Order: sequence, then C-alpha cells, then structure tokens
Amino acid sequence: MLFVRLGTTHTSIAPWESEIASLKRYCEERGIAQDRLELIQGFSDEVLPTLPKDELDLVLIDGGHGFPTPIIDWYYAAGRLRNHGVLVIDDVQLPAVQMLLAFLDADPRWTRIETTPKWVAYRRDSEGTLQEGHEKQDFLGESRMWTHSAPRTRIFDRLRLNKKT
Ligand SMILES: C[S@@+](CC[C@H](N)C(=O)[O-])C[C@H]1O[C@@H](n2cnc3c(N)ncnc32)[C@H](O)[C@@H]1O
Repeated sequence: MLFVRLGTTHTSIAPWESEIASLKRYCEERGIAQDRLELIQGFSDEVLPTLPKDELDLVLIDGGHGFPTPIIDWYYAAGRLRNHGVLVIDDVQLPAVQMLLAFLDADPRWTRIETTPKWVAYRRDSEGTLQEGHEKQDFLGESRMWTHSAPRTRIFDRLRLNKKT
C-alpha cells in the first residue's frame, strides 16, 4: 500500500483471491487511485517469469518464505532491477531468506544499504539478467558458507574403506 500511496507504478503478486479483494476494497474505501496498481493473483514462481521485462526501480521480496521461493523471487524480480535499483527483503530471520542474504553479501554486485532486525535493503550494482555460469562467481569460493568438505570427506573415507574389504 505504501507504494500505491506514493503514486508509483506498482505490481503486486499474491496467491489468494481474498487478499486481492481486500487490497482492492482498502483502496476503494479510501478513494486511493488504483490505475497505477496491478494486482496479480498467483504464486510468484509462476507469475514472475510471465511479466514484461520492464526495468524496475525497486523490488520488495516478502512472499513465500520456504526454500527456494525467496531465491526464485530474487532471480526473476531482482533480475529486472536497473543499475543502482533497490532490493528490499523482509523476514531476514528465516532460513531460506538467510541463504539468499549469504549469497548477496558475498556478491560484490550487491551492496547492503540498510540493515534492520526484520528487513534489509541492497543496492544493485549491475544490470540485466541474473543468469550466469559458476565461473563468474569466484567470490563464492572465498566463503566457507558454501563448502561442505566435512560430510564429503566422511563419504570418501567410507568409500575407501569399502574398497579395501
Ligand atoms: C508476510 S505476508 C506479507 C504481505 C505484504 N508484503 C505485507 O507486508 O503486508 C506474505 C505474503 O506472501 C504471500 N505468499 C505466500 N506464498 C507466496 C507465493 N509463493 N507467491 C506469492 N505470494 C506468496 C502470502 O499470501 C502473503 O500475502
């Protein structure tokens, strides 16, 4: 609602008809213009890839919080952010959201500009699709967060033992 009140051109996705209806009712009861508001009923992983590839100034991720939904939302929505556009992510305490933040904090093309206990904001310092090969993500190799050497070593040890017997 804040985005509508600010007069922005705004697209919002929500899966349930009741949510869409209550947002429309809220606007109607208060005489808030809806001509720049697009409400789309559906799940973000299905809706986002179908939207026009317009450049966006701001993306708010605050939908489904189970893995991998925040990451899917980031991939499709934040991939349309313009250079120096702003990404806001809510509910940073949740595990699937923290996985996304770990990536963004490692990637030099995302700069944290605001941190609160509930939400964070990043500035995007790049543009275009977020699709890329692993060879462009060397920065991940420097973070222990992304290595799983301990379990792998155990599996290899077991395989070696099996070979001897
Ligand atoms: C924590 S609420 C936040 C709603 C809104 N951003 C706000 O601050 O009032 C999460 C919202 O995400 C919606 N949601 C849950 N899973 C979703 C999905 N897969 N795609 C899109 N929206 C989803 C819920 O129906 C709910 O409206």
